[in-house]
Amino acid sequence: MSQLKLLLSRAGGFLLVSALSASALNAPSLASSASSSSPAAMETHKTKVCIVGSGPAAHTASIYAARAELKPLLFEGWMANDIAPGGQLTTTTDVENFPGFPEGILGIEIVEKFRKQSERFGTKIFTETVNKVDFSSKPFKLFTDSRTVLADAVIISTGAVAKRLSFAGSGEGAGGFWNRGISACAVCDGAAPIFRNKPLVVIGGGDSAMEEANFLTKYGSKVYIIHRRDAFRASKIMQQRALSNPKIEVIWNSSVVEAYGDENGKGVLGGLKVKNVVTGDVSDLKVSGLFFAIGHEPATKFLDGQLELDEDGYVVTKPGTTKTSVVGVFAAGDVQDKKYRQAITAAGTGSFFASLFIFSFMYNGSPF
Ligand SMILES: Cc1cc2nc3c(=O)[nH]c(=O)nc-3n(C[C@H](O)[C@H](O)[C@H](O)COP(=O)(O)OP(=O)(O)OC[C@H]3O[C@@H](n4cnc5c(N)ncnc54)[C@H](O)[C@@H]3O)c2cc1C
Ligand SMILES: *[C@@H]1O[C@H](CO)[C@@H](O)[C@H](O)[C@H]1NC(C)=O
Repeated sequence: MSQLKLLLSRAGGFLLVSALSASALNAPSLASSASSSSPAAMETHKTKVCIVGSGPAAHTASIYAARAELKPLLFEGWMANDIAPGGQLTTTTDVENFPGFPEGILGIEIVEKFRKQSERFGTKIFTETVNKVDFSSKPFKLFTDSRTVLADAVIISTGAVAKRLSFAGSGEGAGGFWNRGISACAVCDGAAPIFRNKPLVVIGGGDSAMEEANFLTKYGSKVYIIHRRDAFRASKIMQQRALSNPKIEVIWNSSVVEAYGDENGKGVLGGLKVKNVVTGDVSDLKVSGLFFAIGHEPATKFLDGQLELDEDGYVVTKPGTTKTSVVGVFAAGDVQDKKYRQAITAAGTGSFFASLFIFSFMYNGSPF
C-alpha cells in the first residue's frame, strides 16, 4: 500500500518534471545548448557561478547572480531525493505566509514563478541532478550524468527533506490524508482552519516536537504528543515547557498504525489507531490533525564529505554568512539551516552572498 502511494506521489512529481523540462527545452536562452541530454555525450561547461538546487534559496541566488550578468547555471535536479524540481514547496498546497500573495498561492505555482524569474534574467536551467563534486581545486567541478561544469563559485541550495512516517492512510492520493490533516510542518500549516479548536497530534520526541506541540496549543483544543519510547530526547527546558502546558498530553510507548477519515466523509483526517508498543493494545484517538516532527534530512550526501557538515549532516556556514569551509563555495537555504526552515528565510539566505560576492566579481573579477 505504501509502495503504491510512493509511486503515486512520484507520478505526480514526474508530471511536474515533464512540464518543467518541456518549458526548459523551449526557452530561447537554452536553444543553443544541447539541453536534451543524450546519455553518451558528456558536455563540459564553464561558468562563473553554478547553483545546485531548485527551491527559494536557489532561485533567489540565481536571480541576483543573473541580474548581475554572471550568467549562472542552475541544476534543479531530476527527482533528487524524490522531490520534484521546485523543492519542498511542491509537496504542499497553499502557502499563506510568503509576502506578496495576500490570497495565498499554491506551492507548485510559487515555485513556477521563482523559476520564470530566474529564466527571465538569463539563468540557464538544467533538469539534472548533480551527483558528484570536486572542490579540491579551482575551478570547482560538478558532475551530472551527462555534464561536467567548471565553476569559479558554487552555491549549494539542495534543501532538506522533512521525514515522514508511512502507515495506512498516511500518504497522498485516494485513501490517504497527507495535506488533508497530515502535515510535516506545524509552523506552516498549524493555523489552517481545519485545525482550529480540534484535537491534534504531534509525533516526535525532540526539541522541535516540543516546540511544535506548544505552538499548536494556540490553535487546537488539545495536543497529544505520541512518542514510541518512554522518555523524550528533547532538552530538559523544552520538555518542561511542553509537559507543564495544560493542553498537552503525552501518549508514551506508542506509535500510529493507521489514519482514517472523518465521519462526514469530507476526505479529511478524522482519527488514528494508536498502538502501545509495549502491550500491543490498539486504541482509537479522534483527532483532526497529525504533525510529523521527527526531523529533517539535509540533501548533502552528494558532497561526499568535501564541505564541513555538522553532526546532523547540515552544511556548516560561518554565522551570518553563506560561506562554507571551502572558499568560493556557498550554502543557502534549508541545507544549512535547521532552525527557521521557511521559504522566506531560505530565499533570504539565497540573497546573502549577493553583496559579498557579486560585488567582488564586479570590481575584482573574482568571487573572493
Ligand atoms: C509539507 C511542507 C509544507 C511547507 N509549507 C511551507 C509554507 O507554507 N511556508 C513556508 O515558508 N515554508 C513552508 N515549508 C518549508 C519550505 O518548503 C522550505 O523551508 C523551503 O522550501 C526551503 O527551500 P530551499 O531553497 O532550501 O530548498 P528546498 O525547497 O528543500 O529545495 C531543494 C531542491 O533542490 C533539488 N536538489 C536536491 N539535491 C539536488 C542535487 N544534488 N542536484 C540538483 N538538485 C537537487 C531538489 O529538487 C530539492 O527538493 C514547507 C515544507 C514542507 C515539507
Ligand atoms: C513504557 O514502557 C516501559 C518499558 O519499556 C515501562 O517501564 C513504562 O512504565 C512504560 N510507560 C508507560 C507510560 O506506559
